[in-house]
Parts: sequence; structure tokens; C-alpha cells
Amino acid sequence: EKGGYPHFMLKEIHEQPKALRDTLSGRLATDNSRVLLEELQMTPEEVKQIKKIFITACGTAYHAGIVGKYVIEDLARIPVEVDIASEFRYRNPIIDQDTLVVVISQSGETADTLAALREAKNRGARVLAVTNVVGSSVAREANWVIYTWAGPEIAVASTKAYTTQLVVMYLLGLYLAQQRGTLTQEQIREVVTALRELPAQVEAILGREEEIKGFVQKYAHCEDVFFLGRSIDYAVAMEGSLKLKEISYIHAEAYAAGELKHGTLALIVEGILVLALATQMDVFDKMVSNIKEVKARDASVVGITFEGEEELAKSVDEVIYIPRTHKLTSAVLTVVPLQLIAYYVAVARGCDVDKPRNLAKSVTVE
Ligand code: M6R
Repeated sequence: EKGGYPHFMLKEIHEQPKALRDTLSGRLATDNSRVLLEELQMTPEEVKQIKKIFITACGTAYHAGIVGKYVIEDLARIPVEVDIASEFRYRNPIIDQDTLVVVISQSGETADTLAALREAKNRGARVLAVTNVVGSSVAREANWVIYTWAGPEIAVASTKAYTTQLVVMYLLGLYLAQQRGTLTQEQIREVVTALRELPAQVEAILGREEEIKGFVQKYAHCEDVFFLGRSIDYAVAMEGSLKLKEISYIHAEAYAAGELKHGTLALIVEGILVLALATQMDVFDKMVSNIKEVKARDASVVGITFEGEEELAKSVDEVIYIPRTHKLTSAVLTVVPLQLIAYYVAVARGCDVDKPRNLAKSVTVE
């Protein structure tokens, strides 16, 4: 059942190229000129009526939502707020019929996410569900559903569900942009082309698994790990941090690199591991300065950047290079080494990777 892999998590990490292909299948015009989301059936008027988008979800799905905010705001120029479902449902959110509420849930059964969906509907908002389970509760109760075609995800730690949720965020961002006319044909084509390349690029990263597995052993004893990034890299840092803590039980935190000086830098000393994501070229120099700051305090630093940015190697202990892609689609690639790092650290520490302590795959009670 694990297809020759020692754990479901590793199997599911490796299933990502297929999961991404399946989620993109039939949703990109063959000439890359636009995305097709037949399941949405929104009229241009309905799309123009959307004044605000709320994304609400839990855990990894919430992290996909944070990437969604960067993506939708950038492409479609609609303000997006992202909220944890258990906060959203109790905080009297400002929503009305001009608000589109997007709920993201792999299982489609998470209690807080379902309650958030119901709360949004009660307040007159239209709800779009992004889920991996056909006919799940959120799919049944939402006005629209976009499925992620990741296939069954068994490991508690979510991997292929996250990357396919990201793909849906790009598709949704482009769909809204097309209807609202916020992008040029060239800009649409650029993102669509990048989406089409993602499955093969993830395969290329998986081809470096042995390299990652090799250096991870050096850091498996660390008890504190910081994940740093700017912009979308920061959103991915949050997901990398959750992955590591839930399966290896190591204390991990994600910080926007620009926040370092506002407190966190006090914690950076020898013996701390920093995972630094540096793929956002508009803030690349600032990120490199942050990396130098943590390195100067004797932390060990693993950098993740695009092929061709070999300069970074001078400022870090190890670099993981990922194929170059559009700035928004980088999230699908940067998370893959973070998933592998979390996995191999957990294995090195003898943890029960597929069934971490205290956690369940689907949280159907509050
Ligand atoms: O099924 P859902 O996407 O609604 O689940 C949400 C979270 O419980 C889930 O993503 C959780 O955070 C994972 N264990 C993370 O790996």
C-alpha cells in the first residue's frame, strides 16, 4: 500500500508531480493563453461585484491560504484577508453579499472550517470550497467547489494536498484576473506557462533527495529551528516550520525576515539552525543581508534559492537550488525541500512519521 516507500509521507511527497498534473489537467488552455475553471461559472458581473475575499482554513490549508492572498492580490487586485477558521467563526467578521469566502480543506470535514463556511453563508456571503474529497461536507455546502486532485492523503503531515491547494490559488487568481481584466495577455501567459512547468520542476527537485538526506543528518540534533523568508517565501516558511514541528517535535518558528531585528535576533546563537528562503528577487538583497546577520551570530544556515544564484553559497552553510520559476509559483518548489528536510530529520530522530503524537489526520471536533 505504501508502494515500496517506508512511509506514506514520503510516498505522498513523491506523488506531487502527478498530483500537480492532475490538478492542472483540463484547466489550462492548450495555447497557455488563459485558465479554464468550468466549475466556477461566475458571470463577469458577479466577479466584478466581489469587493473582498476572505480565505479561511486550518493548519496547512491556512498556509495555502496565505500564499493565496499574495497571489490573488497580485493577479486580480482584490483585497484578501486570511483567517484561521477557529478565529474567523468567533470574531464577528465583516462580510456581506459582496464578499467571496474561500474555505480550503483537504478532508472537507474539519469542524472549524465547516463552521466558518456556515457562518459565512449565514451572513450572506457566497462560498467557494477548495477540497480534495469529492462530496465532503464543505463541498456539499459551498456555492462552488474547486477540487484538488491530489488523490488520498494518508500521512498526518500534509504534503501533496498543500501543493495542489497552491495550484488552485494560482488558477483562481488567474480566473479572477481574466474576468476583471487586471492582467495583460502576456502576463497571463507567463503565469500559465510557469504552472505547466511545475510538475517536471518538482520532479527535478525530488531528484536531489539524496543530497538533502545527506546534509540533514548534521542538523537532526538541533532543538530550535527558524524559518525565514520575505513575501511568498515567508508564507512557505510557515508551512516548512509546521511540517518540521509536527513530525520531528523540534521547536520551529517562521519569521518574516524583516522582523528579525524586532525581537527574534535575540534568539539566534550558535547551535540554532536557520532555513532561509531566498527566491523573491525584488527583496533578494534584503534577504541576503538578513542571512548575513544570522550567520554573524554563528547560526547554521541552509539557504534555498534559484539555480543561477550561486553567490548565496558564500553566505550560508548549505544551499539547495531549485529551478527558476515565476515569483508567485516559487512556493510550489521551495516547499518540496522543506518537506524532505522535515521527513529526514523525523526519521533520523526515530519519530513515527506518519502518525505523530497527539495529532489526527482529520480534526472533526473543536
Ligand atoms: O483537512 P484539512 O485540510 O481541513 O486539515 C487542516 C489541518 O488539520 C491540516 O492541514 C493539518 O495542519 C496537517 N496535519 C498539517 O500537516
